[in-house]
Amino acid sequence: MSEHLIQKDFISTQDWSVDDLRTAIDLATRLKAERRAGQVHDHILRAKTLYMLFFEESTRTRNSFETGMTQLGGHAVYLTPAATQIGHGENAQDTGRVLSSYGEGIAVRDCRTGIGQQYLYGMAGHADVPIFSMQDDVDHPCQAMADLMALVERFGSDLRGRKFVISWTHAPKYVRPLSVPQSLVMLMPRFGMDVTLAYPEGYHLAPHVMDTARANAAEAGVELTETDDMDEAFAGADFLYPKSWGPIMVTEDESEVEAMAAQHTDWRATTERMATASAEAVYMHCMPVDRGYEADDEVIDGPQSVIYQQAENRLHIQKALMALTMGGDL
Ligand code: CP
Repeated sequence: MSEHLIQKDFISTQDWSVDDLRTAIDLATRLKAERRAGQVHDHILRAKTLYMLFFEESTRTRNSFETGMTQLGGHAVYLTPAATQIGHGENAQDTGRVLSSYGEGIAVRDCRTGIGQQYLYGMAGHADVPIFSMQDDVDHPCQAMADLMALVERFGSDLRGRKFVISWTHAPKYVRPLSVPQSLVMLMPRFGMDVTLAYPEGYHLAPHVMDTARANAAEAGVELTETDDMDEAFAGADFLYPKSWGPIMVTEDESEVEAMAAQHTDWRATTERMATASAEAVYMHCMPVDRGYEADDEVIDGPQSVIYQQAENRLHIQKALMALTMGGDL
């Protein structure tokens, strides 16, 4: 039933049908329940190898992919440009062809603006094993799928009519990529949610991503709204995903970014704002969350928060995606 997914890349959820994404969530749900019941999965990808290439650092992504391969009976190799000949200029074609002659999958995190996703698709054009995005400049598909899984677990698979809010928040430290809000704004309408995107001037997402998101919303018959009013966005919302991202469409200059962010310190997920959402609203974040800035600790650690469930689901959804695409023994 899912054999057509063998060897399929997972670079963007856009490349997968809604039915195939549901197959991945169903399998992840099964694997999660079985693991909780003490079942081991080490026959599924026994003796298979995943190469994980990180251009940027990670806590969740590296450890969930590596642990996932261990649990499936395979092995994951951690690579960086400095630890390979990529640092000396070896290109995506040569790296991809060579690694795919050794192992059964390649996962890449490359968030370089204007480069990252092109690098992944470039590698996919030459490698004959599935390529997984572990986050790039455009998309963070594994994160969005883990987030969607958390909602399905709590509210069931029919999410139609629910209001999903993606809101910019203030945080001073570094220029965060657009990939998380972009992955959410593209994916959630396909699963029937009305999406509201809130951000101050200068924090808009990539126009081609918004075009895709609008087309997805139109096809699904749902609303996609943009606002510069965080309070308006929170009112009556069911799912709240307030997080920081950089004004990358305008500038990546650190001092300009800092000056822009400093004008919007009131963009924070406060307990007061959460109180205006629906009675069963959940607070979501992909983590790392910038405590003290993005949200009140009472929100991050409160009963509405599902952030640790989202982080745990990274393990289960990635196990499912690897099993489906790397020819797992299911
Ligand atoms: N959410 C996420 O991708 O976390 P890491 O950057 O720690 O991998």
